[in-house]
Amino acid sequence: MNPTTQRIVISKKYMSTPFLLYGANGFVGSEVARLAVQIGLQPIIAGRNKEKLKILSGELGLEYRVFSLDDAEVIEREIKDMEVVLHCAGPYIYTSKPMVDACLKTRTHYLDITGEIPVYEDILSRDAEAKSKGVMLLPGVGFDIVPTDCLAMHLKQRLPSATHLSLAFHSVGPAGLPPGTQKTMFELIPFGNRVRIEGQLKDPGKEVKTRMIDFGEGPVEATRFTWGDVFTAWFSTGIPNIEDYIVLSQSMKKGLAFIGVIGPLFKMAAVRNFFKLGVKPGPTPDECKKTVTHVWGEVTDNSGNKAEVRLYGPEAGLTWTSQTALAAVKKILSGNISPGYQTPAMAFGADFVLELEGVTREDIE
Ligand SMILES: NC(=O)c1ccc[n+]([C@@H]2O[C@H](COP(=O)([O-])OP(=O)(O)OC[C@H]3O[C@@H](n4cnc5c(N)ncnc54)[C@H](OP(=O)(O)O)[C@@H]3O)[C@@H](O)[C@H]2O)c1
Repeated sequence: MNPTTQRIVISKKYMSTPFLLYGANGFVGSEVARLAVQIGLQPIIAGRNKEKLKILSGELGLEYRVFSLDDAEVIEREIKDMEVVLHCAGPYIYTSKPMVDACLKTRTHYLDITGEIPVYEDILSRDAEAKSKGVMLLPGVGFDIVPTDCLAMHLKQRLPSATHLSLAFHSVGPAGLPPGTQKTMFELIPFGNRVRIEGQLKDPGKEVKTRMIDFGEGPVEATRFTWGDVFTAWFSTGIPNIEDYIVLSQSMKKGLAFIGVIGPLFKMAAVRNFFKLGVKPGPTPDECKKTVTHVWGEVTDNSGNKAEVRLYGPEAGLTWTSQTALAAVKKILSGNISPGYQTPAMAFGADFVLELEGVTREDIE
């Protein structure tokens, strides 16, 4: 065996699911591993940190494989007996390509939890190759973007003539963002903001745009924000104008204003790395339990018609993300496979998000 990789099989009786969870020792990855076991899956957990994987493997009774993403042949060898890889190691602008390459080479279905538009663009560019090999490429099976993507498709079904789509979410409770999400936000600053206008991704400029949105408890101010849907909902719905909004805390508003001023400095890795030193630990289980997420969407058309929907679910970054990612894995393991680049709603339909426990949808008449 190559000295850079190690495989530990827990017992001879042990039967793994042909599903490899890469980045399993990360904040979200370890939660996904725990939930997987609870729902009866036995993923092979993997990553580059042997010590952390060993502990998790001991806790959950799962086989683990230690390998980095630096050597294409090693990744191919470690995933070639798998049906599906769920990639939970980010920021994905650095980690996605080697895993996608290996998945295409070994004909393994690829899932991740990215919301990074440059990554969606890269993965889309592999669509033809994936189709020719029968491989499904499904990025974005976390909170970003399953709930909003499913809502977008549902809205399109309610108003097929829709020309404009607005989506928003509001985290209500004490849970903050997972550490990986915080790091990724710093990494994405140099790519700028995006909205979709007449089918094209455009930079909306520095203007801070807000609107009042009623998530079910009266109107609150939401701020336009770059979110994965401006890329993906175009493929899921064909609606040419797309914007995302988020309800920001006072400290996040200040942070955003500050970044607006010093934004160009983030092109330097040293600056991004400096800010990443201030990344906070992810939410505790108790904070997650006390937090819910409200999602809202609206479509309009050129004749003044409108449809509006709300979706209610659990804490977003850890709980909802882990649930949706594993629900997607289960679909694929049960043969629900569409080769090529997919969005979650294209792959599994607008009601996919409602299959998750505790998620409800409300059409606003
Ligand atoms: N879709 C969503 O809604 C959603 C929600 C939450 C998180 N996320 C995304 O998920 C990712 C993970 O978040 P997290 O909070 O779990 O982050 P985290 O705790 O920082 O964990 C990151 C994981 O990625 C691994 N990793 C990072 N760079 C790597 C590389 N170059 N090669 C191999 N492994 C690498 C780390 O391995 P080491 O321990 O060896 O460094 C670790 O296992 C982030 O990109 C985040 O943006 C998305």
